[in-house]
Amino acid sequence: MAKARTIYICSECGGQAPKWQGQCPSCNAWNTLVETVAATPATRFQTVAGKASTVRPLGTVDARKTPRFPTGLEEFDRVLGGGLVPGGVILLGGDPGIGKSTLLLQALAAMGAAKKTLYVTGEESVEQVALRAQRLGLINAPVSLLAEVNLEAIIATIGAEVPEVVVIDSIQTAYTEALASAPGSVAQVRECAAQLTRLAKQRHIVVIFVGHVTKEGAIAGPRVLEHIVDTVLYFEGDTHSSFRLVRAIKNRFGAANELGVFAMTERGLRGVANPSALFLSQHGENVAGSAIVATIEGSRPLLVEIQALVDPVQGGMPKRLSVGLDPQRLSLLLAVLHRHGGVETAGYDVFVNAVGGVRINEPAADLAILLAVNSSLTGRPLPAKTLVFGEVGLAGEVRPVQRGQERIKEAAKLGFRQVLIPNLNKPKQIIEKINVIGVDRVDDALGILRD
Ligand code: TYD
Ligand code: MG
Repeated sequence: MAKARTIYICSECGGQAPKWQGQCPSCNAWNTLVETVAATPATRFQTVAGKASTVRPLGTVDARKTPRFPTGLEEFDRVLGGGLVPGGVILLGGDPGIGKSTLLLQALAAMGAAKKTLYVTGEESVEQVALRAQRLGLINAPVSLLAEVNLEAIIATIGAEVPEVVVIDSIQTAYTEALASAPGSVAQVRECAAQLTRLAKQRHIVVIFVGHVTKEGAIAGPRVLEHIVDTVLYFEGDTHSSFRLVRAIKNRFGAANELGVFAMTERGLRGVANPSALFLSQHGENVAGSAIVATIEGSRPLLVEIQALVDPVQGGMPKRLSVGLDPQRLSLLLAVLHRHGGVETAGYDVFVNAVGGVRINEPAADLAILLAVNSSLTGRPLPAKTLVFGEVGLAGEVRPVQRGQERIKEAAKLGFRQVLIPNLNKPKQIIEKINVIGVDRVDDALGILRD
């Protein structure tokens, strides 16, 4: 095959160079040049008149016509917004070993004979995939396998086999002959993904890319693909615990931020339909430095224990470390605690952790973090069976959060007896078996706990 002409384009300023060099000749940034297939002079310098396409008034398009089909894995369908959409392109990212290949093999198998599926493996041999299938008890599932990394061969096979759902595991191993860069480079990943996306749209095939996230911020990782694909899913979770979360970061076909919850078992990933109590640690009596928050992840409330440890600095700078929570938010909350609660943490290391490897992005966790820190500092536990939520503002106010009622009800369902929440979230009607304490300010909350 004749090689397409390639040029190097700066990812910072868009400047060009005919061959690779360390520094961009236009903006002098280092290591920003990326190999790209050159546009032909015809497309660059002329207006090319094509054939006019038909336009349709918005009102005549029947939006309900988007056919969606479920995979049969309930939690996976939930993050997808109900199922797969023909022509939809999905990126499933996550750390190596977290369960991406397992999930997708299970999903293809779950669709069974209803859909024609193709699993393209670039990382493992077909024997390795079969071994996994055997372990999952899916050895007889009607899934076609292809061990291939060459993009042209993959596209030709898709053309010949005409599958309805294709998994590319992983996009980092695919390479096209049109570019000279190594497989896994930004140029290769982007070009392969772009070509497969085009194919998906033309033929109405679902294409799912697996992408590894590298610890260094994923330069050649899936981040470059996020704008190309329709749906971006990320695997979260602590590889040491068995729980795995799949979060929709972007979804053109459904709600973003929806969450699927799985447990990794001997026989693959099992959906957890009722995850609200998963992220509570198992210690019995009340301990200092712990507060339980109800966070809404996608469509469901999750109860998560926030743990804090505040310890005098052992020389040097005080450390602030947060796991599963926003570190900048933590600094902000410590400043509010000092200014509006009169609680000083300057001479202490502060560690906070959301139990179970879950990541909380919601400000609704603010009040719980603040109270957990205060509790660890004073050595006084929060009252038993108490749930806390509320956003904390810079002026020391406790702001209401959305869907408060739902959070309180979930707490009541799981046997909590008391909630400490923003005054404005106080339900109008009494909720059975639960005592509601509303606060307006951080110092109110601290005061209530002191009494
Ligand atoms: P895998 O899907 O290969 O991860 P990825 O594709 O994201 O790199 O999953 C690998 C891990 O999952 C591996 O550590 C073993 C574990 N696992 C189970 O615990 N049970 C199983 O049934 C399977 C197939 C894997
Ligand atoms: Mg894998």
